[in-house]
Amino acid sequence: EPNRRLVVVSNRVGPLVSGGKAGGLAVAMADALKERGGLWFGWSGELSDSGTWGPVNRDVHGSGSTAITLATLDMTEEDHSQFYEGYANRVLWPLLHYRTDLIDYDPKDEDGYKRVNQRFATRLASMVGPDDLIWVQDYHYLTFAQQLRMAEASNRIGFFLHIPFPPPDVFNVLPRADDMLRALLAYDVLGFQTQGDAENMIALMLAEGGERTSLTTVRIMGRDLTVKAFPIAIDAQSFAELATTEDAQIAQARAERLLNGRQQIIGVDRIDYSKGLPERFKGFKKLLEDYPENSGRVSFLQIAPPSRGTLDAYARIREELEQISGHVNGRFGDIDWVPIRFTTRGQPRSALAGLYRASRVGLVTPLRDGMNLVAKEYVAAQDPNDPGVLVLSQFAGAAEQMTQAVITNPYSDGDVAEAIQTALRMDKSERIDRYQALMEMLVENDVNAWRRTYLQALEG
Ligand code: G6P
Repeated sequence: EPNRRLVVVSNRVGPLVSGGKAGGLAVAMADALKERGGLWFGWSGELSDSGTWGPVNRDVHGSGSTAITLATLDMTEEDHSQFYEGYANRVLWPLLHYRTDLIDYDPKDEDGYKRVNQRFATRLASMVGPDDLIWVQDYHYLTFAQQLRMAEASNRIGFFLHIPFPPPDVFNVLPRADDMLRALLAYDVLGFQTQGDAENMIALMLAEGGERTSLTTVRIMGRDLTVKAFPIAIDAQSFAELATTEDAQIAQARAERLLNGRQQIIGVDRIDYSKGLPERFKGFKKLLEDYPENSGRVSFLQIAPPSRGTLDAYARIREELEQISGHVNGRFGDIDWVPIRFTTRGQPRSALAGLYRASRVGLVTPLRDGMNLVAKEYVAAQDPNDPGVLVLSQFAGAAEQMTQAVITNPYSDGDVAEAIQTALRMDKSERIDRYQALMEMLVENDVNAWRRTYLQALEG
């Protein structure tokens, strides 16, 4: 791999340790930087009065060519409320997940979003050299390259969107959607999770007068951009190893003791309306109704760490989940059997790996998801000689690659119930066949391949 310095930009930075608790993006970026090293720049997670005008916090890990420097800035309370809570999470997040009904737009938030992009870009501009490859992540930073260009950066700048990108009719619900598209044209590469997402972006560009010059390139407003799918991945080998460590085995044994011979279905998601959690709980309820032979024999564990709890849409969903799980347990449970165990306590990754391995079914049923790395981790954690089965939403980006999962429609409780039943009934030889095909795909297309493929496109 060529040794131009890699500069990763994302709102959340770190942690680098694999024992910690982190979202999909943070885990993937930590893995991507592990072999190549570089600078990782973004928000410190702290609010202060000086905000982005304050000092850069620096934290160097390792040394030599694979050293990773974390460089972060604070935000002000106003930045956080307008940029993060307001425009990023009350406008862009629902919009890009096709939930235009949940958009709550305030022009002040849009100004705050642009200001924070401008501030972070200006601070980064003074830290980079002309040969550095700048790789900006996710919906928080759509206007970052435009601001870097204003600060005279002539670097190659790439963008990767971790969440879905909807068709033009949905995207154009965004006030001043055309301005946003124009800002994106300051990038050299626009990367997406799936072929479908990339095609949606290309359709938008063509509608704005762009010309498709190849399968993955578009000429528009005097610029040539690569627009392409780069499905994000995990370090499958490392995660498989994590599932056999002592910490994982302890978690696995603890779960198995409690299960007492019952089969476990597991779900792990941030509490978010995009994850289809109420629908999933109803699908499990339908399983108990339609296939009563499962009564007392299966147990559904949902781990759901709270997320963005200051936003109404997020607080509502948490209440709804407590209600449905209470209802199902009261109606179907028995003195020695709790059908749904619902906990908002996050688990270390090693414990998660053990819990995945203790579960016959991995239930991943988002209504819309960029990729979903839980689906990939669930498979990687399985015992190759007695693997469990992944039940996966057709609306997760992962469904494009993970065709040997049992694919389901998360909007239909009957469909979800049937898919779980199929997974529970599947004989060992078929489970092994499906696991092997999926695992082969995960090892071949791991996070290092993802980084290499993206950076190849970015180097042009
Ligand atoms: C998703 C987004 C990430 C985000 C993460 C956690 O994975 O794509 O950009 O960091 O959720 O959400 P939070 O709002 O806590 O950063």
